[in-house]
Amino acid sequence: MDEQIVQLRAQFEEKLAAVTAVAELEEIRVGFLGKNGSVTGLMKEMGKLSPEEKKAFGQKVNELKNFCTEKISEKQSELARLEMEREINSMPEFDVAMPAETKRGSYHPITLVQRKCENIFRSMGFAVEDYSEVVTDYECFEALNIPKFHPARDMQDTYYLENGQLLKSHTSAAQNAIYKKYRDALINEGKPIRAIFPGRCFRNESTDACHENTFFQMEGVMVDKNISISNLIFFMKTMLSEVFEKDIKVRLRPGFFPFVEPGFELDISCLICGGDGCPSCKHSGWLELCPCGMIHPNVLIEGGIDPEEYTGFAFGLGLTRLAMMKYGIKDIRDLNGADLVNLDQFTDDK
Ligand code: DAH
Repeated sequence: MDEQIVQLRAQFEEKLAAVTAVAELEEIRVGFLGKNGSVTGLMKEMGKLSPEEKKAFGQKVNELKNFCTEKISEKQSELARLEMEREINSMPEFDVAMPAETKRGSYHPITLVQRKCENIFRSMGFAVEDYSEVVTDYECFEALNIPKFHPARDMQDTYYLENGQLLKSHTSAAQNAIYKKYRDALINEGKPIRAIFPGRCFRNESTDACHENTFFQMEGVMVDKNISISNLIFFMKTMLSEVFEKDIKVRLRPGFFPFVEPGFELDISCLICGGDGCPSCKHSGWLELCPCGMIHPNVLIEGGIDPEEYTGFAFGLGLTRLAMMKYGIKDIRDLNGADLVNLDQFTDDK
């Protein structure tokens, strides 16, 4: 019977050495140590032996059993380790010492221009206001001297919401709220109203290189006693010279907007040719940049300000246009395109 034990052990070792998968190992375990396994079978045969033989034999069978259990568990760990090595080796190479990707995104060109304008106007005592993108018909039109059915509404193909509100078609829509917010300080404390309000505007335009349904403007107003067109020209010239970092010449042409009287188109000397005439300015030497004017008395009245006592100017700077000019962006659609590589090139501030 001892021989049986030796044979069984040899068999077990041979089979175990050939194992390459967990499933095979389990088969061996059942084959040797399971209820009907060979080692368990030896135990059953012990009944035929004398009590002395039984003791010695039992000990040997037990040794064999422990030996098998231990070897199976060792093999199990080895297989698990091999499996993990296989997985690691099949992974793409990964260098833990490699420095992290340093690209952190960048500011959008419109954000850059907007911040620059905000800083310049802040330094001249203007408050920077934020305003909602969904506004009422009153705010966007009626308070600006554009009554219902006025033909000036046709110039702004507006998106209306089902509840009668609309997506603001110009930043002028915030004017009325600004007057109401600051008029007490103006009237009671003599503090001039000076505010700019940049914002996103929406119009139902078919898009091409120069038109977009979503664009940015920056509106500005100043109201006080004795405000005149000279004040308007001074602020615009100062601001534009700072934005473009060179002395900019401006000129005013008449322009019609119901909320200003008189109204102007403000042109700047061409940035490319300096005013001599080139293809960019259609050989005129001037670029149209910023509509503006003296605030219409009806608009002041809607804001609760007496036009007999106070006057003011307003302007609606095309921020998108300004960014395109400053950075030489030829297609307006690039600004809303979310192409990070494209938008990344305008800022050092990364
Ligand atoms: N809101 C006008 C538009 O988008 C632009 C404008 C013109 C604004 C004259 C003004 C202004 O403040 O005085 O077409």
